[in-house]
Amino acid sequence: MATKAEAKKKPAKTKAKTEKPEEKLVTVYIMGKAHQVPADATIMGAIEYAGYQIKRGAGCREGFCGACGTVYRVPGDYKIYAGLACTTLVEDEMYLTQLPSFPAEKPVYNIKKLAPTVSTFQKLYPEVFRCVACNTCSKACPQDLEVMDYIQAAMRGDIEQVMDLSFDCLCCGLCAARCPAEIVQYNVGLLAKRLYGKYLSPESKEVNKRIKEVDKNAFDKEYKELMRMAEDKLKKKYYDRDME
Ligand code: FES
Repeated sequence: MATKAEAKKKPAKTKAKTEKPEEKLVTVYIMGKAHQVPADATIMGAIEYAGYQIKRGAGCREGFCGACGTVYRVPGDYKIYAGLACTTLVEDEMYLTQLPSFPAEKPVYNIKKLAPTVSTFQKLYPEVFRCVACNTCSKACPQDLEVMDYIQAAMRGDIEQVMDLSFDCLCCGLCAARCPAEIVQYNVGLLAKRLYGKYLSPESKEVNKRIKEVDKNAFDKEYKELMRMAEDKLKKKYYDRDME
């Protein structure tokens, strides 16, 4: 049995065990103003922790949608870095800003009237042929894509290679933001994917079969179940799905 003195000490011990370790903070500069934010925060988390509300420039918050392009500098380094605000972690003394959108030239076209040849790139995106092969676009890509290589492939009219190399593009716009030739690389990639899908990809028996099934309302019952499902169950179903 504990003495009175020991009994008095006990609660203090228990308290010490449940005490939260102190959060490590770092300083970041958001639009020139210093803020203390958690050292393990993403740039997006830090901006919100500092009290800013992000209404534009955020979507999935998981590195998929490309809405949150960000540029930043770190102390003692002359370079401008770029990344996704939702996945890039803060560093102490980082200077940062977010690009709420990246306006870019995007011609309107009717895919049925285009030819899958280099002349289509020449007509719609003539700036592609100003590429100086500096590779700045590839260095800016948060997906580590070989952006310059697919622009070079577009110059050769190799639509399949443009499609292939740009396949994982998020359209965040960071390549276009850094390009000295003012090329909008992600729109060139989109055009190639559309041309490839329309004119060059081999016909897929599986897709044709699925289209017929949809036409025959084969999935209507499951659609209705999904539409009625509570949000938490829907989320669970989504995250439990079989991933290829
Ligand atoms: S919010 Fe979607 S990629 Fe960052």
